Amino acid sequence: MLTRRLFLGGLAAACAAGPRKLFAKEEAEFDDNLLVFLSDVHAGAAKTCKCARRKLKEAVAEILKMRPLPRNVLVFGDIAHVYGLGADYDASRPQFKLLEDAGITVTMGMGNHDRRSEFAVRWPDAAKKSLVPGRYVHLVETTSVGFLMLDSLQGTDDRPQNDTGPVPGALSDGQQEFLRDFLAKRTKPVILCAHHAPKELKLCGKPLSLVVVTTPCVAGYIHGHNHRWTRAWMRDKDQKTPERAKHVLCLPSNGLWGDIGYATCRVATGKVEVVPCLKDFWLSRPVAPERRPPEWEDILAEGRASGPCTFRL
Ligand SMILES: [Fe+2]
Repeated sequence: MLTRRLFLGGLAAACAAGPRKLFAKEEAEFDDNLLVFLSDVHAGAAKTCKCARRKLKEAVAEILKMRPLPRNVLVFGDIAHVYGLGADYDASRPQFKLLEDAGITVTMGMGNHDRRSEFAVRWPDAAKKSLVPGRYVHLVETTSVGFLMLDSLQGTDDRPQNDTGPVPGALSDGQQEFLRDFLAKRTKPVILCAHHAPKELKLCGKPLSLVVVTTPCVAGYIHGHNHRWTRAWMRDKDQKTPERAKHVLCLPSNGLWGDIGYATCRVATGKVEVVPCLKDFWLSRPVAPERRPPEWEDILAEGRASGPCTFRL
């Protein structure tokens, strides 16, 4: 569904366009069924985060040039660099604000490198809109499917500033209760989203991957954390008829290591298609072309050839 609205273009963009365009309002078209997924942004304040900050800036600029504009941008956690410092959220907040100023709704998920209390200072509305008190859980609806962003961060806010917290993910008891009730009532398709893979998470004692496959309204699962564009079919061999297989998709990192890029998501009748927009591959940091090992081209070619990931509704 396409909708139109007025938005005030970013001040910097207006300045760059010249004085006549300053404060000019541009009419933009939004597609409610087009989304952009960013993950593992890691755009902290440290000098070592220069590349991650640049990649975030580039991704935001590319999103703002999309026509129609996506109605929603979802961020799958690890917004901060390593420790979830307040300065990290200060470093990335202005870029996300450019998206919000353009009329795009930005939904933030928590990763193992995040810290809820520091995030809350920079994103006060996110906690108010969360479906689970004390956690960041948000439902993003489109015409035919919802995306439920869960909060799989185990680390607590009272950990020391230089403590990364636990790397594995977990859903809090309150969040598990919410999810159990949500899935019991839900009839419209939903794709579960979180920073961590479903095999790391449990819902009321059951592996979350099993819940995804056996719950009729759940169309699949999308996560970050592994920094690679990978997809796999989940199935349950003991499942009663009709047997289903559902995709689990891991997103690239937008700017730290592994596959570097983001993904666009289009919701159509009966299916959702997520398309990778891979820019590079970094072992730990960008490497000049002349210093890349011979396997670099193979890694990039594999990424380019991997194609979209489809979820059937
Ligand atoms: Fe990460």
